[in-house]
Amino acid sequence: MWGVFLFLITLASAGLSLDKANMCMDGKHHKFEPGPEGQLHNQCAPWRENACCTANTSEEAHDDKSKLYNFNWNHCGVMTSQCKKHFIQDTCFFECSPHLGPWIQKVNESWRSERIQHVPICLDDCQSWWSDCKNDFTCKQNWHKGWNWTTGHNQCPAGAACRKWTDFFPTAQIMCEKIWSDSYSYTTLSKTSGRCMQLWFTGLNPNKKVAEYFLNHAAWQRTTTSTLVLLVTVSINMVLS
Ligand SMILES: *[C@@H]1O[C@H](CO)[C@@H](O)[C@H](O)[C@H]1NC(C)=O
Ligand SMILES: *[C@@H]1O[C@H](CO)[C@@H](O)[C@H](O)[C@H]1NC(C)=O
Ligand SMILES: *[C@@H]1O[C@H](CO)[C@@H](O)[C@H](O)[C@H]1NC(C)=O
Repeated sequence: MWGVFLFLITLASAGLSLDKANMCMDGKHHKFEPGPEGQLHNQCAPWRENACCTANTSEEAHDDKSKLYNFNWNHCGVMTSQCKKHFIQDTCFFECSPHLGPWIQKVNESWRSERIQHVPICLDDCQSWWSDCKNDFTCKQNWHKGWNWTTGHNQCPAGAACRKWTDFFPTAQIMCEKIWSDSYSYTTLSKTSGRCMQLWFTGLNPNKKVAEYFLNHAAWQRTTTSTLVLLVTVSINMVLS
């Protein structure tokens, strides 16, 4: 009897986890469901076997002031190409990845209803992003909020002068975590750890297994908690009756 019950709880948790390991968030440009996209552009091509972005989105991801979010990388002079390639990769990862389920949160904002939070980024991807950008310039630490949008593109707000990248982002950790208001969490994990998400990869998408690990971990905790609650309730009932 108990065995069957526990089995059903485990099954229910596992069932929920399966969907979350392969899904698209409710974002501005995301597809409803992930699937193959043969024509993904340039840096977004690694996601072509299974993607939440369309070919159009993948192409826009490579444009300055792209139509995706009208975001202007060149708000403090032209962003160097070595730096910009990381922002393009970040955009591909965000728009195309079908394995962000464990880190999707509901938000109450005019331009989106879901966001990602605390995605554990592999050390190498965060470090190389920062190293390649650290000689560029910017005027803000949080790139999600506080811009002047009157021209249709983000400009530095009044009083925010352009300064060295490292004035706003003294370390790789501060950059990766603060720039998109905690979308990423810094880790010291290597790409081979299987416990962190990779922005840059070739071949089979390594992030599916990472998402599954985090989901199973969370599912295991949920199962344990609900089982404990159940057992305690049953015990109390037995004592009382
Ligand atoms: C993507 O689609 C939009 C709307 O249909 C269009 O305006 C834009 O030019 C397209 N972008 C590319 C790169 O094809
Ligand atoms: C979301 O924002 C709207 C408008 O600001 C507000 O009316 C609504 O109560 C908010 N919902 C939640 C769940 O916070
Ligand atoms: C926003 O930018 C416009 C155009 O550059 C400028 O006229 C305006 O003063 C700016 N507003 C603020 C609050 O920075």
